Amino acid sequence: MKSYHLRSGAGIDGLTLREHDDPRPAFGQVLLRVHATALSMRELLVLEGDYPLPVRDDVVPGCAGVGEVVAIGPGVTRVAPGDRVAATVFPDWIDGPFGLDYAAQLGSWRDGMLTDLALAGEQGLVRLPDHLSYAEAAALPLTAVTAWNALTGGRPALPGETVLTLGSGGVSLFALQLAKLAGARVIATTSSPAKAEQLRELGADEVVGYRATPEWGAEVRRLTDGRGVDRVVDVVGDLAQSLAATALGGEIALVGHWLGADTEGPALSSAALFNAGAVVRPLAVGSRAQFEAMNRVVASARLRPLVHREFGFDEVPEALRYYGKGGFVGNVVIRHS
Ligand SMILES: NC(=O)c1ccc[n+]([C@@H]2O[C@H](COP(=O)([O-])OP(=O)(O)OC[C@H]3O[C@@H](n4cnc5c(N)ncnc54)[C@H](OP(=O)(O)O)[C@@H]3O)[C@@H](O)[C@H]2O)c1
Repeated sequence: MKSYHLRSGAGIDGLTLREHDDPRPAFGQVLLRVHATALSMRELLVLEGDYPLPVRDDVVPGCAGVGEVVAIGPGVTRVAPGDRVAATVFPDWIDGPFGLDYAAQLGSWRDGMLTDLALAGEQGLVRLPDHLSYAEAAALPLTAVTAWNALTGGRPALPGETVLTLGSGGVSLFALQLAKLAGARVIATTSSPAKAEQLRELGADEVVGYRATPEWGAEVRRLTDGRGVDRVVDVVGDLAQSLAATALGGEIALVGHWLGADTEGPALSSAALFNAGAVVRPLAVGSRAQFEAMNRVVASARLRPLVHREFGFDEVPEALRYYGKGGFVGNVVIRHS
């Protein structure tokens, strides 16, 4: 079997592909043949040494992978050979609120999914919805679960509410799909008219260009007749704009702050936060229970994450460089076989 390994801070050029003996599952472990891994901004942050959680040198990267159970160790009861499964990004986080005890993450501390064969604890696996291909399902463990947590982990989004999504990355796209399914009105932001059209095709009711309209928070508020949106799925971290867009009592699900690094204005005052009257809720992907709850909805509504492009397993460095350049809508996926 072959696995990629990383050197933290060495970037894409620090990746190596190495051969190993096939592993054998011990008690409670499952051997997976990995079929697909989805790339995300998180992988680039890990490689560049900019990730907030600890990264172990030589770890196998890739936190979002799906595959087939090929063997089970003694004592395994949750899955059986032949099952199509996803590994959860935080394998120890089963349910309830996130905590440091659960922070060991695939692809940064624990070996991840950019490998032919992966060993996983049976508790860190969920079954895939039958209607999804492996390439589509690869988006579920990270970006889709994060979108689900953003929409349901606080006060769940309700029909008739207005949800704001930012940009057209994987989290925002799936949040748009889920929010429409929940009966919400969705306002999305994006950088270009072409992407605005794609977001409208995916169901966005209104799209605001964040480059053409740097004060997009005020524009979003205008689109809600001055009231503001009920929820922002904030993957950017330009909180001044998100607060300007949010209704009193609304929620900003704060998914990331890295994209906003070059747009951050002066530090927010406590008065600005207080006067906005909104809850800011930072979040970390989601638990296994949240993943399973989302899968029930994905299966019953036959939702499909959007795949933009697939690369082969031996093309991971090229795929990461392609991902890093942006300019597309949808998920970039590694097909392992
Ligand atoms: N907290 C967590 O557990 C968690 C989980 C997953 C991801 N994240 C973080 O969430 C962020 C999004 O991740 P992702 O994988 O969905 O997507 P991504 O690939 O990082 O998102 C890229 C998209 O972000 C949009 N964007 C960039 N700068 C923007 C700005 N100033 N305003 C609005 N949109 C902007 C662009 O959309 P357009 O091209 O449409 O302009 C771009 O296509 C990343 O920072 C990631 O690290 C956090």
